[in-house]
Amino acid sequence: MNQLRNNERRRAAITAVAHWVPDDVLDNKYFESYLDTSDEWITTRTGIKERHILRNGAVSDLGVNAARIALERRGWTPDDIQLIICCTVTPDMPFPPTACIIQDKLGASNCWGFDLNAACCGFLYGLETASRFIESGAYDRVLLIGADKMSSIVNYNDRNTCVLFGDAGGAVILEPASGEGGIMDSYLKVDGAGREFLYMKGGGSLNPASHETVDKGWHYIYQDGKAVFKRAVVDMAEASALIMERNGLTSDDVAYLVPHQANLRILEAARERMGLTKDKVMVNIDRYGNTTSATIPMCLSEWWKAGKIRKGDNLVLASFGAGYTWGAIWVKWAY
Ligand code: ACO
Repeated sequence: MNQLRNNERRRAAITAVAHWVPDDVLDNKYFESYLDTSDEWITTRTGIKERHILRNGAVSDLGVNAARIALERRGWTPDDIQLIICCTVTPDMPFPPTACIIQDKLGASNCWGFDLNAACCGFLYGLETASRFIESGAYDRVLLIGADKMSSIVNYNDRNTCVLFGDAGGAVILEPASGEGGIMDSYLKVDGAGREFLYMKGGGSLNPASHETVDKGWHYIYQDGKAVFKRAVVDMAEASALIMERNGLTSDDVAYLVPHQANLRILEAARERMGLTKDKVMVNIDRYGNTTSATIPMCLSEWWKAGKIRKGDNLVLASFGAGYTWGAIWVKWAY
């Protein structure tokens, strides 16, 4: 685990990136209208101003819409895909896997696929998994999706959580790197002792859905924000710094920190620990809130579309989430 990559081996590279959000927006004023909260509290404590909500449809729709844009950008048809990995905590249903639903909706007839649940670290763990499939030589064309419909598990009467989350889909295509860049190194961790601070208690095999679980609100996300914050602020920063240090990357060498967007103050702590200036951190939490598995591909997609990521740029992708799960991945942008 967490072995340095052997750079003599073939490497995986991201060769297309895309995202999709629904049109419906909830701004902080909306929550002020019925909850004991304020735009001022939400903005200063989290950095969030608004979030997009999917009224009709499921997480597969978020993923499919992002995937279609990624395929178009790469110039592929769905039949070019060999493997679909869908990272999500809000699958359409417990089973079948949402990856299968996405495969069918895309009409991708030459692939297999599966779901990966690692909460807010879903995209990082998915990137590690997808890139290892490519490094092994087994696959050449992987579609990696990070999508979540957080509005489906949020209690809109709980001010502690409902202001934090939004819905979105992100997608990247991975292939063998043709040049110098690619997925260079990864440092990923879990600590299951953290599971009591952030979870959805009902609907699984421990507490199957029943009138009682619904009455108790166990089908909603629960978070002890303070406890999670204390760990996130340290561990995400440490993982980001570790990946720099063990690869000899200085703050000048890093083009961007691409952090999971859970709280602006957590991103700031990582930025400071890495010695980066503010312009080197991708931040869009103000417009989307925390979209769980989608935050990192959304940032990559927006910055790529704006022409702000260049071939050869060193990016440090970092996250912390439920589990606990956390880590960082060094990507040298390759297209
Ligand atoms: N409006 C007004 N007041 C609020 C709101 C709100 N929306 N939400 C909470 N408060 C109150 C609390 O009730 C509390 O009041 P009290 O002192 O009277 O009890 C007070 O504000 C302070 O609450 P804290 O929880 O201490 O607030 P904090 O400054 O820690 O911010 C937050 C809360 C934003 C949730 C923060 O703790 C956080 O970001 N935590 C980490 C989130 C994270 O990284 N999660 C992991 C990823 S998510 C995933 O994996 C699915």
